[in-house]
Amino acid sequence: MPEPIISVKNLKKTYPGGTEAVRGVSFEVAPGEFFGFLGPNGAGKTTTINMLVNLVKRTSGEIIIDGLTLEKNAREIYQRVGFAMQEVGLDETATAREMLQLHGRLYHLPPERIEQQVAKLLKLVELEKVADRYTHTYSGGMRRRFDLALSLIHEPKILFLDEPTQGLDPHARQLIWNHLRQLNAAGMTIFLTTHFMEEAEALCQRVAIMDKGLIVAEGTVEELVTQHQAKNLEDVFLKTTGSTLGEEDVIANAVDPYARSRM
Ligand SMILES: Nc1ncnc2c1ncn2[C@@H]1O[C@H](COP(=O)(O)OP(=O)(O)OP(=O)(O)O)[C@@H](O)[C@H]1O
Ligand SMILES: [Mg+2]
Repeated sequence: MPEPIISVKNLKKTYPGGTEAVRGVSFEVAPGEFFGFLGPNGAGKTTTINMLVNLVKRTSGEIIIDGLTLEKNAREIYQRVGFAMQEVGLDETATAREMLQLHGRLYHLPPERIEQQVAKLLKLVELEKVADRYTHTYSGGMRRRFDLALSLIHEPKILFLDEPTQGLDPHARQLIWNHLRQLNAAGMTIFLTTHFMEEAEALCQRVAIMDKGLIVAEGTVEELVTQHQAKNLEDVFLKTTGSTLGEEDVIANAVDPYARSRM
């Protein structure tokens, strides 16, 4: 493997209150790779991605992005990285065009560059016709496409996407897939979380599966399918991870005041 563009060693996060969301994960992503990060609800995917982009402070471990560390080079990393996150902040007082322009200024792009980028990205995500509407009036699919445009304003080398196609209809999903494929073909490294196994199969060159704060499987889809004698990636997922739903039942019973009297 060439020098990795993302290198993570023994990364951990314990939230205040004691939840050990990430319990020591290590992985590497090669430049230009399309890397999928999978796992059940609560596995620790968003926590990991948020630590990588410096939105959540890690408890311990090492993160190197494009040869740089967050301790020494946070600003440079910020310039090289784009991200679209799970919890979207939309604005009731700004249009998509205005928000894109604002983001361009936050990244210190020169005014003419901002105009070029805004025009290019609105076209890319097919939002030209609604560019001057307030973003809170957008449908779910429009929002996701707008998020993607925002994350690309400064032409990042590495793109982090937390469930970019959640809640999208098949047309909108295909549209996003095509954009992501184009960006990746042009050399962008993409790190994506998703609950759609067919999405990971369609897009990702390699995947890691996380469960309860740890990586439980990693490789190409073919490698994992062979290794786990599975039918497909979904089968690998089901074989390597546990459901968190059962645990919630246990917790629900634990706080059920009548549980004792029924025992
Ligand atoms: N801000 C927070 N404070 C305390 N605990 C948190 C916080 N954010 C997440 N957690 C907990 O950390 C664990 C991992 O959550 P995380 O959001 O990283 O999972 P995820 O893999 O992204 O799940 P999903 O697929 O549902 O998005 C969960 O137990 C969650 O309840
Ligand atoms: Mg998440």
